Amino acid sequence: MAFPDSFIDEVRRTANIVSYIQESVPLKKTGASWKGLCPFHNEKTPSFNVRTEPPVFHCFGCGEGGDVFKFVMLRERVAFPEAIEMVARRFGIPIPETRGFERTEDRKEREEILALLEAAAQRFTRNFWTAPGTRSREYLLGRGFQKETLEKIRVGAAPDSWSDLLDSLRNKFAPKLMLSAGLILERQDKSGHYDRFRNRAIFPILNESGKVVAFGARSLDGSDPKYLNSPETPVYQKSRVLYGLNWARDAIRDNGRAVLMEGYLDVARAIESGVSEAVASCGTAMTAGQARLLHRFGERVVVNFDQDEAGRKATLKSLEILTEEGLDVRVVDLPTGHDPDTYLRESGADAYRKRLDEAPVSMEWLIARAAAQNETGTPQGKAAYLKELLPSLVRIESAVERAAWLPKVAAAGGLDGAAADQELRRALSLRGGAATAAAAPVRSAVSDRLTPAEKWLLALIVQETEGVTEALAELQEDDIAGLKTAAILRAAKSLQDKGQAVTAASLTEAVAADEDRRLLRELAMEATPVEHADPLGCVLELRRATLGRRLEKAKAGVRDRQSKGEDWRELLLESNRLAKELEALKLRGLVPTPRASEPHTR
Ligand code: GTP
Ligand code: MN
Repeated sequence: MAFPDSFIDEVRRTANIVSYIQESVPLKKTGASWKGLCPFHNEKTPSFNVRTEPPVFHCFGCGEGGDVFKFVMLRERVAFPEAIEMVARRFGIPIPETRGFERTEDRKEREEILALLEAAAQRFTRNFWTAPGTRSREYLLGRGFQKETLEKIRVGAAPDSWSDLLDSLRNKFAPKLMLSAGLILERQDKSGHYDRFRNRAIFPILNESGKVVAFGARSLDGSDPKYLNSPETPVYQKSRVLYGLNWARDAIRDNGRAVLMEGYLDVARAIESGVSEAVASCGTAMTAGQARLLHRFGERVVVNFDQDEAGRKATLKSLEILTEEGLDVRVVDLPTGHDPDTYLRESGADAYRKRLDEAPVSMEWLIARAAAQNETGTPQGKAAYLKELLPSLVRIESAVERAAWLPKVAAAGGLDGAAADQELRRALSLRGGAATAAAAPVRSAVSDRLTPAEKWLLALIVQETEGVTEALAELQEDDIAGLKTAAILRAAKSLQDKGQAVTAASLTEAVAADEDRRLLRELAMEATPVEHADPLGCVLELRRATLGRRLEKAKAGVRDRQSKGEDWRELLLESNRLAKELEALKLRGLVPTPRASEPHTR
């Protein structure tokens, strides 16, 4: 799923990052950049900056930043290729059919598997609606599903046969492909193959764009396992697929809410009842990948797993993952013994929708659950109750929100407020340095720790100011050895030496460390003060600083050797040479190139 570099460059060049971002974030022009409130963290004063030259955004508050693609990836929660596509579409750039550097064989295999799975799905549905599939059909119609629903979700049937599918697809697809698609298995004595799915009702699992990527197969005679699934294949990663998302995606966008269920038949019943925003994780807790996928379509998720012990466990785990993804998570409880399927059948869509609308936010649900499960009348019960809730409280990012929950936690468990507060503080301080550091907004400027000369030289480079070429030509390894920014300046010089343009983009690509990239973005946003608007001046200043340091060292060496009675003449010569060089440099620095008050940008 990758595009050729030339296309990516074209999109990057053509896209206007300011107008793109402005569509979702109000921006005001101040000087050379546009400013607004950062969409990636909560703030009251704008520290989010966007510039066109170079085309980057950067937030001095939370440190997020990058090019237009990075913005789309963060904002829309999509992967790089999708971000490119979205920007290309927005600016009317035709998207190439061929997607560059995915290995051709891999793409071909994936396409063949998809074609095979589609053919298999068709075989299964044909079975379902005709004689060999009678059993599955009778079972599902017997459970009260309508024909239209079963057709919509493309239910199928595998007859009680070792080779129904194999035989029907044999002359169109190689057994090897059927093996990699997980449809058949090899006989133990290697004398041939047999169907994986036999005597089962088949639920095709579609990806979010509606392609069949796997199958779930329900047993009809009580044999184990109840559900047999396709293995992971080149087109199916369990942790990245949500059952039903292809049918639900528009409804999730429209309602701003998804309902997360456990099983295929829950989703089927929801569809039939007109609850069209339902998806299923298929028998497990959510994964982070599924949470991210869901987040692309809406901000709110109502979790409605089965009311048994397994369902409650999966609920707890899913709440963690969904909350960590930053979703607004709610939880529905149904009467004991129910799942969405049985509840919808028994009580109907209106009653169900009411429960969805009234579903408490996850923290409220967790408090009620912990209060019910612990004897909060006893001292030990109170402690156990709070202990159960602390991890969820700690997980809440916003200190304000966390503080607002605490009195509710204390009230529901009959706790002493001050003591609960103390416990929470302790839990927070234990939550690990890394997590705390990541959550805290990094207050700007890596660049504050740099010497003015290196900071401004880099700023002028990424802002593509006039005179940079000459400055880089003058720059020598001696000037920068030992500087924090040595790697970046070296990369800039080496780009220029290779005859490549030194731009914010090329330089960002050329440096390896994340911290360096971040620094470059910050510097791209700096408004350059007049006295620093001279790249060559910065290089000379770097050199002066280096020479100054070396001169001091040489002088100290001379004194040292004199006091020890050692030979100091060579060092004195060195010291004199350095002093002369420094003088010459100062003279050069006294004749600065005249510059306009604002740095020129090309
Ligand atoms: P019914 O019980 O017929 O209503 O189907 P259901 O879809 O509601 O199944 P259930 O509530 O038992 O389980 C929920 C989901 O968990 C199923 O839809 C499957 O995705 C998954 N699941 C259940 N049992 C198994 C199993 O034995 N193996 C696998 N791989 N998944 C299972
Ligand atoms: Mn069920």
